[in-house]
Amino acid sequence: MKRLLLLNGPNINLLGKREPAIYGNQSMQNIVDTVQQTIQSYGYHLDAYQSNHEGDLIDKLQLADENYEGVIFNPAAFTHTSIGLRDVISAIDTPVIEVHLSNIHARESFRHTSLLAPVCIGQIVGLGVKGYRLAALALIENI
Ligand code: DQA
Repeated sequence: MKRLLLLNGPNINLLGKREPAIYGNQSMQNIVDTVQQTIQSYGYHLDAYQSNHEGDLIDKLQLADENYEGVIFNPAAFTHTSIGLRDVISAIDTPVIEVHLSNIHARESFRHTSLLAPVCIGQIVGLGVKGYRLAALALIENI
């Protein structure tokens, strides 16, 4: 069965109780369940992984070519800081779509820059949980 990886970075595990005015009330598990339901009708399986540690996320991405058709990635705060994550996305062939729940371009200026977006196939921001679903559909359609 074809597989997608849903990768979430630091503090995404706190969704639901973390700044709900910005990030909404849904838990990370709700997001995982929603994306899984969306893609299973297309015959895809979802693996989900969250880590607060940059190196763990790099380790997962290094293995993507052997395991996944695509990666849906919310790098959270590492979006704005991590050359290591940028370099691993450049190193793999698997397409990665960057997703943010909030519109990072409408927030503090330090969130306006993504070090990762230039090496992802696309970036979806500001659409909440829907952004994860749309990224999954884009990967399934091989955009
Ligand atoms: C976020 C935006 C980031 O700037 C922030 O550090 C997060 C969440 C989002 O999904 O909107 O942790 O990636």
